[in-house]
Amino acid sequence: MDIAVLGVGNRARKYLSCLPDGVRVACLVEPEEIRLRQAAERHGVPPECCFSNSEDFFSAPHSGIEAAIIAAPDLLHLPLAMACVERGWHVLLEKPAATSDHQYRMLMEAAMRAGVHVGVCLELRLHPFFRRIRELAAELGPISRIDHEEHIGPDRMAHTFVRGLWSRKAATGPIFLSKCCHDADFLMWLAGAGVAEEVHSRGAITRFRSSCAPDGAAERCVDCPLERECPYSAVDLYQRRQEWISGFDVPEGQTLGDVIREELRNGRYGRCVYHCDNDVYDTQTVTALLDGGIRLNMHLEGTSMREGRVTQIIGERGMLLAESGRVSLMLDGSIVAQEEDDYSSLNDAPLHAGADAELLRDFFDCIAGGREPAASLRAAYPGHHLCFQAGD
Ligand SMILES: NC(=O)c1ccc[n+]([C@@H]2O[C@H](COP(=O)([O-])OP(=O)(O)OC[C@H]3O[C@@H](n4cnc5c(N)ncnc54)[C@H](O)[C@@H]3O)[C@@H](O)[C@H]2O)c1
Repeated sequence: MDIAVLGVGNRARKYLSCLPDGVRVACLVEPEEIRLRQAAERHGVPPECCFSNSEDFFSAPHSGIEAAIIAAPDLLHLPLAMACVERGWHVLLEKPAATSDHQYRMLMEAAMRAGVHVGVCLELRLHPFFRRIRELAAELGPISRIDHEEHIGPDRMAHTFVRGLWSRKAATGPIFLSKCCHDADFLMWLAGAGVAEEVHSRGAITRFRSSCAPDGAAERCVDCPLERECPYSAVDLYQRRQEWISGFDVPEGQTLGDVIREELRNGRYGRCVYHCDNDVYDTQTVTALLDGGIRLNMHLEGTSMREGRVTQIIGERGMLLAESGRVSLMLDGSIVAQEEDDYSSLNDAPLHAGADAELLRDFFDCIAGGREPAASLRAAYPGHHLCFQAGD
């Protein structure tokens, strides 16, 4: 099957590393020249099928393309997906599928009219740990309450939501949508819930603002006398630890070291986290009443030093706690945790512990079999809808 890939950044590169047999990259669309060239070489895509902008791509004739993977920036998901759907192509669309309820419904209707499938990249549905939580939660009987925390972690928070491309609402939408659409989708799926009512949301920027800067903090980490003791040091993250650097392109004639030095000195990622232009929340609490009377409490935490999700579910027969890759279950007063329910070794496993590859396999199998993908637009609507209601 021939596909087009729109947006060849971090996510697309991961998907392209695990494409199922029989799927061939026929066209690439990517404005960054280095990324386009590297992906074209790796996947043997000829120059006439490589496009540096989506207008040229959509105005060129294409025969034989059956599906598209869209992994461009969030605000482009809807226009690019609409254009693909209107051409009769199935779409694997990065989350969030849209940034408003109205847009989401428009896309759903367009896909239905065109008779194509749109799968949303909500890989928790295919992640072994989260699938197991859902399986065990079914033993609790009717659920009355779910408490869920998403700890973003200091590195991801600083890189992505303070210094990075998801730090400004106007450029990317609210953080609850961009980060917690995974959580909302997982929880609505687990609860079998179709609607969230009485949605209340409260968020704030509690840490990453200039009034919280320690005395003497410089505008850039390379100039900062406090750099060695700061948990958000860009010098430590990118230069010493060499983490979160996969998005740093290395032009010909330069080294990664050159690129990191330049970024720290002049780029967005060298800025002090207390002196950025971020306006997305760093903490947010959302409560809702789900069908069946389930009380849902969700908390997004961008200021703690831990990373990961903590989920507690209370049901008629007991309680489930999922944390750091481990699930424990208490049923009718006794603990029934299983040894095999320790998934902590998967915490740092590549490709979201294989869920990314599973997502692709599921999507292409479903297209071939005329079935809906695991996280189809229809299935993913309740989680997105909860995020839209939570707002910014
Ligand atoms: N499912 C997940 O777990 C997950 C994780 C991270 C990011 N994401 C989502 O995946 C998407 C991509 O994120 P990323 O981390 O790969 O970002 P990225 O910035 O690395 O990649 C996005 C790419 O899109 C390109 N682009 C910009 N305008 C374009 C256009 N008009 N047409 C085609 N391409 C264009 C950019 O140049 C860039 O290379 C985002 O929507 C993000 O929210 C999903």
